Amino acid sequence: STSCSSSPPSTSLPPASHFIGRKEDIVKAGRVTKMVNGCRDILVLHHQGQLHAMDVRCYHSGGPLQNGDIEEFNGRLCIVCPWHKYKITLAEGEGLYQAVDNPTAKPLRTHWCSKGVKQRIHKVTEVNRNVYVTLNNSSEAMESDRYQTERYRTGLREA
Ligand code: FES
Repeated sequence: STSCSSSPPSTSLPPASHFIGRKEDIVKAGRVTKMVNGCRDILVLHHQGQLHAMDVRCYHSGGPLQNGDIEEFNGRLCIVCPWHKYKITLAEGEGLYQAVDNPTAKPLRTHWCSKGVKQRIHKVTEVNRNVYVTLNNSSEAMESDRYQTERYRTGLREA
């Protein structure tokens, strides 16, 4: 086969996309953290054949999501923050929690609830085995935004 590494990216690449790495390298590593556009620290992860991207620091208190386990809750894949075990859906960035149905009933029964979108999720595109991220520039504030400052960046650089 011929090498296409010097060719310009295909036109299917969305505007304002940022190169993260070769797909095979990301699959091998499982997780990659990267500062994108000089301003946003993100986590790109590969799980069950899917790529996901999100703000790397947890919306609750800035915990390092790159060290979180991935588990399914109520049929939804979540990353579990290693600091206080908050559960964040990979696809939407929703915070999930278990609520008690009726506090006076025994045994206690719980059901899963959503706090809404808390973690900013970014768009991943794969073109010619290269992986790109387009930042989610929604003007709607999300709680993870507050950990995207220089003050919280130091830990990531050491990682
Ligand atoms: Fe993530 Fe508290 S910082 S759960």
